[in-house]
Amino acid sequence: MKVIQVGLGGMGNAWLRAVQASPHVEYAGFVEINVEIAAEQVAKFGLDPNTVFPSLDQALAAVQADGVLNVTPPQFHRAVSLTALEAGVPVLSEKPLADTPTSAQDIVDAANRTGVLHMVAQNYRYHAPVQTLYQTLHQGGFGAIGGVTVDFFRGPHFGGFREEMPYPLIIDMAIHHFDLMRFFLARDPVTIYGRSWNPPWSWYKGDASASVTLEFGDGVMVSYNASWCSQGQVTPWNANWRFECAEGVVTLVDDQVMTQRPDGEPELVPALDPPLVGQAYLLQEFYEAVTLGKAPVTTCQDNFKSLGIVFDVIQSLVSGAVVPSST
Ligand SMILES: NC(=O)c1ccc[n+]([C@@H]2O[C@H](COP(=O)([O-])OP(=O)(O)OC[C@H]3O[C@@H](n4cnc5c(N)ncnc54)[C@H](O)[C@@H]3O)[C@@H](O)[C@H]2O)c1
Repeated sequence: MKVIQVGLGGMGNAWLRAVQASPHVEYAGFVEINVEIAAEQVAKFGLDPNTVFPSLDQALAAVQADGVLNVTPPQFHRAVSLTALEAGVPVLSEKPLADTPTSAQDIVDAANRTGVLHMVAQNYRYHAPVQTLYQTLHQGGFGAIGGVTVDFFRGPHFGGFREEMPYPLIIDMAIHHFDLMRFFLARDPVTIYGRSWNPPWSWYKGDASASVTLEFGDGVMVSYNASWCSQGQVTPWNANWRFECAEGVVTLVDDQVMTQRPDGEPELVPALDPPLVGQAYLLQEFYEAVTLGKAPVTTCQDNFKSLGIVFDVIQSLVSGAVVPSST
């Protein structure tokens, strides 16, 4: 299978590594609007400079591709995804699906109208600690989940679009954790209430800290506390999770899963070691969907619900009100 990768910047590196390591996927071409970044990546990854184009339209006209990897910043996701879908070429897009509800809806509409696959790279689902937690929750015999606490605190200095955008934590990062909530709970939210703020030392223009309460189906309450400008004692990118269950407690702390049953001792759960994780897993899933017709999990139609949480949270942050879920 041959793909065109659009966007060779920061996250472009992870996809370049994943494709170059894949036995099934190879490059038909690349699109990059920044000539310096293109030249750097051509040299670093040994790419054919004749297959680097300034626009996806030009790339699609020049090379034959079975898929497009959309690794541009969020505000370009709609244009790139629509160009590929209208050309009948399946898309594996970086999260978030889009930067606005309208753009997300436009992508889902185009995928439905054309019948062409569009899936979103929610790579956190396929991290080994997350898979270990998922398996423990669903096969460990801990019974019904009654409540969840999620703590995420880091202080990355990215520069670039994240430091300029409104609500960088919620839009660019928390989408992973909101998507994981849907993954772990296998249900969707009912109501959402959030507050956000920007600590005095924050290096972001938009609010870098937030506290969000989400009521999921069957009254499962989730408390999400997070910051992207924390100055110490950071949590892993996967966040720390605590599930209050009928038959005990399951936690993911510092990427290790622990359990404790009533009157029992805390127990460490051995970590799973899946053969493919993160981008490598998603690339394989994309390949199997395109070539074998296997249904992928994080289609744009499904991911619209995860992204819907982001927009509902922002609505609550802006209005100060409890917001009914839009999905
Ligand atoms: N899944 C994850 O863990 C993860 C981590 C980081 C970033 N991301 C996502 O990856 C995407 C890209 O982020 P990044 O950190 O690589 O950003 P970046 O700014 O480092 O790189 C984006 C690249 O896309 C190029 N570009 C922009 N518009 C383009 C267009 N129309 N055609 C071709 N190239 C174009 C830019 O010149 C730049 O080189 C974002 O959606 C971001 O949220 C995901």
